[in-house]
Amino acid sequence: MDKKLIKEINKQLNFELESAHVYLAMQNYFADQSLAGFEHWFNIQYQEEVAHAQKFMNYLNDRGIKVEISGFGNPKNEFNSVLEVLEASLNHEKEVTKRIHNLMDIALDVKDHATVSFLNWYIDEQVEEEANFSELIDQVKRLDGKGLYMLDKELASRVFVPINKE
Ligand SMILES: [Fe+2]
Repeated sequence: MDKKLIKEINKQLNFELESAHVYLAMQNYFADQSLAGFEHWFNIQYQEEVAHAQKFMNYLNDRGIKVEISGFGNPKNEFNSVLEVLEASLNHEKEVTKRIHNLMDIALDVKDHATVSFLNWYIDEQVEEEANFSELIDQVKRLDGKGLYMLDKELASRVFVPINKE
């Protein structure tokens, strides 16, 4: 496998773990706000990010490449509103999308067809991720206090779906 591509995939899997950390901090903001549905929803988001990292790790392992795990800085723990958390999340996902697209550009460049095929899953997943947060932002913007309570109840029903079962 191309050295630069390996390095960038390794970097991305660490960024997925960092994303998990970002959402874990948000989960705990909601716990503190007694919004149990949002808390649960962000815990699922956290689990998804770990699964995204694991999927990258498995891929590199399958290609005979040793993964390197790195550290990262503290995530943001303080927020002023539900909307602020959701907008920070959407921005974060836009950054992830940019990075996945960059990985795809490299894979195409070096004609690594297996990696192109592998990355397609993430390209599709990012459309979903951005849509999830955009929709939540739209919903929260339309809500009054009682509506937020109802939305919180609804978010409590999100389930974690393991990647290989999708
Ligand atoms: Fe992700």
